[in-house]
Amino acid sequence: MTILLADLLRDLREDHRNMAIMLDLLSQQIDHIRDGERPDYELIHDIMRYMTVYSDAVHHPKEDVLYSAMRAEKPELAEGLERVGPEHRDIGESGEALRNDVEAVASGAAVTRERLVEDATHYVHTLRKHMAWEEEDLFRRANDLIRDEKDMFIDISNFDQLDPVFGPEREHSFENLLRNIKSLSAS
Ligand SMILES: [Fe+2]
Ligand SMILES: [Fe+2]
Repeated sequence: MTILLADLLRDLREDHRNMAIMLDLLSQQIDHIRDGERPDYELIHDIMRYMTVYSDAVHHPKEDVLYSAMRAEKPELAEGLERVGPEHRDIGESGEALRNDVEAVASGAAVTRERLVEDATHYVHTLRKHMAWEEEDLFRRANDLIRDEKDMFIDISNFDQLDPVFGPEREHSFENLLRNIKSLSAS
C-alpha cells in the first residue's frame, strides 16, 4: 500500500497523541508505586503490549520510511537523522525490559519496586524526549518536503497494520486499556 506523504505525516502525528496518552497512564502507575501503592500490573502490561505491537512494529518503521525519503529527496533536511535508528532501537529495548519486568511480577518472580520504577521512568523519559524531537524538528522538516513534493507517495506495505486500540477495529484484548483511557480523559 502506498500513502500520500502528507497523510503519512498526519497519521504519525496522531500516533504521537495516542502514545502520549499511554505514557500519561504509565506515569500515573509509576506514581502509585512511588507512593507505596500497588500498581495495576495488568494495565502496565497492556500499555507495553500496545507499545510493542503497534508503536515499535508499525509507528517507528513508518517513520524510518519517511526519514529515508527525506534523506533521498532532500539531503539538506537529513542532518541528525542517523540518530533516529539507534533511538528507535533503544526505545524498543527499554520497552522490552519493562514488559519483562511486569511479566516477571505476574509469574511470581521477585522484581523490586525500584527496578520497575527505574525501568518505567527511563522508558517514559526516553520516548517523550524522542517524540518531542520529532514534533519540534523532524516533522517540521518533513513538512518542508511535503510543501515541495505535494504528490509524493510512500510505500508502507510492510507496516500498514491498523492501530489495535485507537483504530477503526479495536482488538478485544485491549478492552481494559480502553476503559482506562476513557477514565483518564474524563478526569
Ligand atoms: Fe520516532
Ligand atoms: Fe514517533
